[in-house]
Amino acid sequence: MRILQVSAELFPLLKTGGLADVAGALPLALAAAGEDVRVLLPGFPALRAGVHHAAQVAEFRTPWGETARLLYGHIELNARQRIGTYLIDAPALYDRPGNPYEDANRQPYGDNHRRFALLGWAAAQLAQGLDGHWHPEVVHAHDWHAALAPAYLAHAPGGARSRSVFTIHNLAYQGLFGAWAFADLGLPAEAFSIDGLEYHGQVSFMKAGLHYADRLTTVSPSYAREVQTPAQGHGLDGLLRARAGVLHGILNAVDDAVWNPAIDTLIPQPFSMPEGRRMAGKARSKAEVQHALGLAVDARAPLFVLVSRLTEQKGLHLVLEGLDALLAQGGQLALLGSGDAWLQDAFRARAAAAPSRVSATIGYDEALAHRLFAAGDVTLVPSMFEPCGLTQMYGLKYGALPLVHRVGGLADTVVDCTLEDMADGTANGFAFDGFDATAYARAVRRAFALHDRPADWRRVRATGMRQPFDWRAAAAQYIDVYQRALGH
Ligand code: ADP
Ligand code: GLC
Repeated sequence: MRILQVSAELFPLLKTGGLADVAGALPLALAAAGEDVRVLLPGFPALRAGVHHAAQVAEFRTPWGETARLLYGHIELNARQRIGTYLIDAPALYDRPGNPYEDANRQPYGDNHRRFALLGWAAAQLAQGLDGHWHPEVVHAHDWHAALAPAYLAHAPGGARSRSVFTIHNLAYQGLFGAWAFADLGLPAEAFSIDGLEYHGQVSFMKAGLHYADRLTTVSPSYAREVQTPAQGHGLDGLLRARAGVLHGILNAVDDAVWNPAIDTLIPQPFSMPEGRRMAGKARSKAEVQHALGLAVDARAPLFVLVSRLTEQKGLHLVLEGLDALLAQGGQLALLGSGDAWLQDAFRARAAAAPSRVSATIGYDEALAHRLFAAGDVTLVPSMFEPCGLTQMYGLKYGALPLVHRVGGLADTVVDCTLEDMADGTANGFAFDGFDATAYARAVRRAFALHDRPADWRRVRATGMRQPFDWRAAAAQYIDVYQRALGH
């Protein structure tokens, strides 16, 4: 099957969150399954720099009448594996350093509707034959940035030559623009209606994806159910209920070549389960991180780690409210994150007040993220909502037991250490219901209680470290969805 993956970020070239990890792993898994997969990316400087041997395929008109170029080359994923990649060359739109969505003052760029309409537009042009040598049978668009692709295909003059699949990575980010933006999109007037991409008088890229795609997926089975409820549907639950028959929940996986403590070159000493109980590499990681971050170097103090965008979604006020109790029980906290100023300030202040027990690194640091999971005893992910969540899976792989709010993908990956689950051997972490300080504090107490029982702790940790979270399984499910989109 010829499949085009369309995404605004891709690890290791450009990443602001989990979308990049998925966009960097899924093409490899599809290729390994024998599919003919290519990628389409906007020409942000970091992406451009990563596309090797880029040569022009075609020149084409944007919907608003300018000229852009389509290049084709390849990217190298996991060091050696090549994936054929199209890049949209439109410097006036994309040649801006830093965050792909926002300017240096964290304001969305004023022409984002054009910057991301062009991504969907180029995908649809490719489907209609822009590259005479290759055209996709399935266009798979990720998140609102790529969500106009299904709309352009649905309205293609002469009919669509490809089927479309749209994946919701996070329904909270919808790509909403004033009605004025519609004129730039090159869609027929009827598209700006309730049976199109109009959303309460605005243009919604997300709604375009949800309305027009042949098949929809989201990144965990639980989130697929949650988005159909008013509480988590962000105003689009009605549409999602109406399309429930074509909506699939496919759990993300972990790229074993990137997140694997047995071969990780970013941590001081690799480690793995067969090494047995000692896991010398994990102990060394913990001591190294404690030292590097100025925490007391103490093997016995449970180290809680947190690697996250600092936004309301992530439930970080619970961590702040529960921090005194965590410290009183003898724990340490090491946070790595960036985002909302008030959260950055709050964690910085807590670190300044207790530097030997709390550390806050504000910024983005891929290597430190690896070192923290390797060092940590517990990975905190108390998100208010979480479509999938990757850090709890990284915590599981690296033996840092996840402590999570039981929602979305967190509910699908973490089994609490209650007595029954301990008995049947499925427990792998701590999960709380009820998004409040009491429920969170209780989960933290359960973590300390388990830590006081080293044999049980090791058993639970081993359960997590053995879980596969294999992209092969996820890719097989996507292939099934593509087949259905094609009517097979
Ligand atoms: P989301 O996509 O909502 O941010 P995920 O858990 O799916 O949440 O993915 C987050 C990804 O971003 C993970 O790979 C995580 O390690 C990474 N990450 C988040 N914040 C940082 C940071 N400050 N430095 C390095 N990596 C980070
Ligand atoms: C989004 C979600 C996150 C998910 C990621 C990758 O950013 O917030 O839960 O893991 O996409 O699918």
